[in-house]
Amino acid sequence: MKPLLKLKGVHSFYGKIHALNDINLEIYEGEIVALLGSNGAGKSTTLKTISGIIKPKEGTIEWEGENLVGTPAHKIVEKGIIHIPEGRRIFGGLTVTENLELGAFTVRKNKKQIKEGIERAFDLFPRLKERAKQTAGTLSGGEQQMLAISRGLMSQPKLLMLDEPSMGLAPIIVQEIMKIIKEINKQGTTILLIEQNAKAALKLANRGYVIETSKIIMHEEANVLRADDKIIKAYLGA
Ligand SMILES: Nc1ncnc2c1ncn2[C@@H]1O[C@H](COP(=O)(O)OP(=O)(O)O)[C@@H](O)[C@H]1O
Ligand SMILES: [Mg+2]
Repeated sequence: MKPLLKLKGVHSFYGKIHALNDINLEIYEGEIVALLGSNGAGKSTTLKTISGIIKPKEGTIEWEGENLVGTPAHKIVEKGIIHIPEGRRIFGGLTVTENLELGAFTVRKNKKQIKEGIERAFDLFPRLKERAKQTAGTLSGGEQQMLAISRGLMSQPKLLMLDEPSMGLAPIIVQEIMKIIKEINKQGTTILLIEQNAKAALKLANRGYVIETSKIIMHEEANVLRADDKIIKAYLGA
């Protein structure tokens, strides 16, 4: 089977900082892949490079047989790749529904599709339905993360990339978000998940990649990573 997404020898820089050094990574359709690593390792840069925010200096990013390198970010969204960045950037002054409508705007969906998308989001996150007319800024942190994810889903992506969705949330809310990520995957969306919470991520994921100081040092089935001494020590809190 051919991978949906394949990074080959990718190098990305911020000025002179070599943030990604020869990244090779594959994601197959239907998978949940976790990207683990400590602060500053290059996790967010990997997502930014895939979504076209950063252009790699070297390497290729193959998506359905096409090299994405050089494709502008909004075109990459149209191809079915959505990146939910760190820190849930929702529009605090707009209502929940208005935020969702904006999620569809990037792909210019028609009214009926937008309505269906909002219904899907509300099925997935009943709490957002209750708060449909509330301004997003008044939502709790967990609800804002749910809204950020729902907004990303409005364009019906094939690949959803999540950058630390559990950041700053209470454990019970983290569990809820993880459950919903699993559900989104079951409904047919492939997932690339960055998590500091490696335990939660590896419970969910099929496979994982470990990135350390700009390089992939390991990639394995999630259950193999969960049993690996080095991973346990470094990321799972022995
Ligand atoms: N906007 C930026 N300008 C300069 N350096 C950056 C920028 N963003 C990240 N970096 C550097 O790139 C490296 C990788 O960062 P990042 O991908 O954000 O790590 P992670 O998400 O794994 O914590 C780090 O050394 C970080 O300091
Ligand atoms: Mg990061």
